[in-house]
Amino acid sequence: MLGERVVVGRGTCVENDTSIGDFSKIQSNAYITAYMTIEDHVFVAPCVQTTNDNFMGRTEKRHALIKGATIRRGARIGGGVVLCPGIEIGAEAFIAAGAVVTRDAPAGKVLMGVPARVVRDVPAEELLENQ
Ligand SMILES: CC(C)(COP(=O)(O)OP(=O)(O)OC[C@H]1O[C@@H](n2cnc3c(N)ncnc32)[C@H](O)[C@@H]1OP(=O)(O)O)[C@@H](O)C(=O)NCCC(=O)NCCS
Repeated sequence: MLGERVVVGRGTCVENDTSIGDFSKIQSNAYITAYMTIEDHVFVAPCVQTTNDNFMGRTEKRHALIKGATIRRGARIGGGVVLCPGIEIGAEAFIAAGAVVTRDAPAGKVLMGVPARVVRDVPAEELLENQ
């Protein structure tokens, strides 16, 4: 399902069974895997890679476990970030460029690095309610 006023950049692939909410922007050359939920006002920077299968095509149990990330309202994902299968990015979280996110990201926090860790709060001036 595609919401209203969604922007999807050139070279970006959006796979099956993934929904993108209103006003979300997916920039160029991102890979948006199957079975993801992207809520409203989400920003996905260029070359973000999302994944949904920790078994990479092996085993029968993988079929029940395949799941992409859930990205909550207003979260921002920096350039070249990798999101591992099934994680949740909390509302208004900010994932710094180049991070590899292996665990759920709390709402309203900035995460950086490989693996991504919380480093601070998102500044109030950047929150949606203050735009
Ligand atoms: C998070 C970000 C805003 C930088 O934050 P910052 O606090 O201004 O970072 P600073 O330059 O003050 O660096 C603080 C420390 O974090 C490190 N750091 C900064 N960005 C980092 C990143 N993306 N990943 C890992 N470490 C990072 C710095 O090396 C520095 O470490 P040090 O204290 O050991 O020297 C920036 O890295 C980023 O991700 N911007 C997003 C850009 C983007 O993807 N835009 C999308 C569309 S164009």
